[in-house]
Amino acid sequence: MSIRIRALHPVLAGEVEGIDLRAPLTPAEVTAIEAGMDRHAVLVFPGQDLSDEQQLAFSRNFGELERPGAASNITRPEDRRLGPCMADISNLDRHQQILRRDDRQRMFNLGNRLWHSDSSFKATPAKYSLLYCLSVASKGGNTEFADMRAAYDALDDERKALIEDLVCEHSQMFSRAQLGFTEFTEEERERFKPVLQVLVRAHPSTGRKSLYLSSHAGSILGWPVPEARFLLRDLVEHATQRKFVYSHKWRVGDLVIWDNRRTMHRVRPYPAEEARDMRRTTLKGEGPTVRQQAA
Ligand SMILES: [Fe+2]
Repeated sequence: MSIRIRALHPVLAGEVEGIDLRAPLTPAEVTAIEAGMDRHAVLVFPGQDLSDEQQLAFSRNFGELERPGAASNITRPEDRRLGPCMADISNLDRHQQILRRDDRQRMFNLGNRLWHSDSSFKATPAKYSLLYCLSVASKGGNTEFADMRAAYDALDDERKALIEDLVCEHSQMFSRAQLGFTEFTEEERERFKPVLQVLVRAHPSTGRKSLYLSSHAGSILGWPVPEARFLLRDLVEHATQRKFVYSHKWRVGDLVIWDNRRTMHRVRPYPAEEARDMRRTTLKGEGPTVRQQAA
């Protein structure tokens, strides 16, 4: 059966029909999905029924898996609910109990409500994220995606020239500080040391430029911090205008893939006392966007 892609948004998102992700993909299917990703940046595969192993196997068709682990969050290894290559985007602990409202792990994970690009705090940031929905809360919890390519195109020439060669520092400490979460251990501060990312990047497949923004970006090399924060804030405001955004309402069985190299995303609030189980696999990008400074 050949796959069909129906647009969910004029540019940014499409829905893929005619494919069961449990079965091995043919090379033609892999090519069709990659082409769909280059065209849309967000693809929704509804009505799937995947185990973690099947999600991992499907993900490997498109690149090398990231191991989220210690570099990505504050969850201790013994508290992890899922295997080493699965990022836990739930509000559950390893006993499947809903995390307390003031649980440190939950508060850290609330950073997902800020606009961001996955793993922009890693020297080699992410290519695709693949998020599978096992349960939803009764309301809220949409994931919104913003088109960083359209946002770049819409900048005037003066602004494009201003930002062309800028380099930002990204760290999870910057994003969490915006939420008032500043209590990091010495060991966490070491793990979350900032990395460098260009502010304008070209897509490796299409060559098109896009803004590379994320709540993890906290400074710009050579700029006073307050000025850098204002420029970044202005750019995020510009890039997340509703005309650049697709909002996804989750159904159980949805798998959604997005390209972190040309989108930002955020989750909207949902009731803290209701379970929401989502599992993410993440693929490594091609390499650093900029040469990292010596430590
Ligand atoms: Fe994310």
